[in-house]
Amino acid sequence: MATEKNEKMEQIVSLAKRRGFIYPGSDVYGGLSGTWDFGPLGVSLKRNIMQLWWKMFVEDREDMYGVDAAILMNQKVWKASGHVDTFTDPLVEDLETKQRFRADHLLKDAGFSPDGLGLEQLTQLIKDNDIKSPNGNALSDVRTFNMMFKTTVGPIDDESSISYLRPETAQGIFTNYKNVLDSFYPDLPFGLAQQGKAFRNEISPRDFIFRSREFEQMEIEYFVDPAKWEEAFEHWRQQVWKWTQALGLPDENVHELEVPEADRAHYSKRTIDFEFDFPIGKEELLGLAYRNDFDLMNIQNATGKNMDYLVKGTNTKFVPHVIEPSFGVERAVMAVLTAAYTEDEVNGETRTFLKLSERLAPVKYAVSPLVRNKPELVQKAREVYDALKKKHGAVMWDDNGNIGKRYRRQDEIGTPHCVVVDFQTLEDGTVTIRERDTTQQRRESIEELIS
Ligand code: GAP
Repeated sequence: MATEKNEKMEQIVSLAKRRGFIYPGSDVYGGLSGTWDFGPLGVSLKRNIMQLWWKMFVEDREDMYGVDAAILMNQKVWKASGHVDTFTDPLVEDLETKQRFRADHLLKDAGFSPDGLGLEQLTQLIKDNDIKSPNGNALSDVRTFNMMFKTTVGPIDDESSISYLRPETAQGIFTNYKNVLDSFYPDLPFGLAQQGKAFRNEISPRDFIFRSREFEQMEIEYFVDPAKWEEAFEHWRQQVWKWTQALGLPDENVHELEVPEADRAHYSKRTIDFEFDFPIGKEELLGLAYRNDFDLMNIQNATGKNMDYLVKGTNTKFVPHVIEPSFGVERAVMAVLTAAYTEDEVNGETRTFLKLSERLAPVKYAVSPLVRNKPELVQKAREVYDALKKKHGAVMWDDNGNIGKRYRRQDEIGTPHCVVVDFQTLEDGTVTIRERDTTQQRRESIEELIS
């Protein structure tokens, strides 16, 4: 079973590289661990996912406001948020090679449940059970490792110039709560949404894009009356299910995990992790947390600025509480690729295709002339291509190899429709449309197709 899962992961990684979805970062220079580059098709898939999210959660709602905050933020943000002190993972070192690993991962791999254990308990568990590094060597005691990437801002390199690449987009939202309140004064509940890069110096990035050092998040901070947080939490729980369905993830492969207190992030009073059956196993796809007033109170205490919300037409004031659905883009991409990756048999041969929804597919139509050496066919096909491209944008011209090869190639990148201009087109203005999922072909007039 494990081998089968690894095989599927390898097939997806290989297809992603071969077909121009995702390449290892800095590949030509030997790579940089934990970084990935999205190629021409990958960037389209990723953007389609991000646009769908923005439409569902910002544009289609009355109570949401978008922001796009700077990645570099005042160091005070990360002190007040608790990230400087507590955004850590447990680290152990191979005493021979000096290679570093996450203690909890090594213990999990060895069949233990390390969640919620402190440093000393982790060290003890490793010693008592003689857990070795993956190289077979003895391990150091467990210590904490802060995952934020430190940098300096400006020409002077001293304490005051320290900054960090943001480890979550959330803080860029909280720091703009007061600005949006002053500009729009929305009714409660209301939310701020942001998409953008986040950086974590993961001790051991692994499993393709699942755990990277640079990745993208789509986060919502939803501000509510403290007395109504449970209602809002339930609302967002339902919205998360709508999202996983919109991505085309089968419900039976998505699981809710009520995170026990000991394992929750330092700011959370309730968290549900939404897990997905990735080829690497059941792992976190996204999180839904009740952050109470942790962040706004931190800002208020650190800056002395009042974060109260005054309920319109009353004298009632309070610091709102926050429900936070937090989505990772790379994990969404990986889940979509996992769910879409399909093999079937066509004419006695195994066919691989990505069963992507029309909305997410990087290419909606591929257009080709039946043969390349008949100028009148090529010209007609170009006309069809131009018209479709004007309408849908994501349309590909594909005249490489024979028709069978073109279909296979388009299947592998998830193109729902292949349009072929043939000799009959010149006679009656109809084209062949071949559907990816069924491999069925039908004829349709060019006008019908375009309209
Ligand atoms: N603001 C809350 C927050 O950042 P998180 O659970 O640490 O919560 C949210 O991260 C989501 O970001 C995760 O559910 C996952 O989808 C994504 N994510 C976190 N770390 C990641 C990493 N190293 N690589 C890829 N995605 C990651």
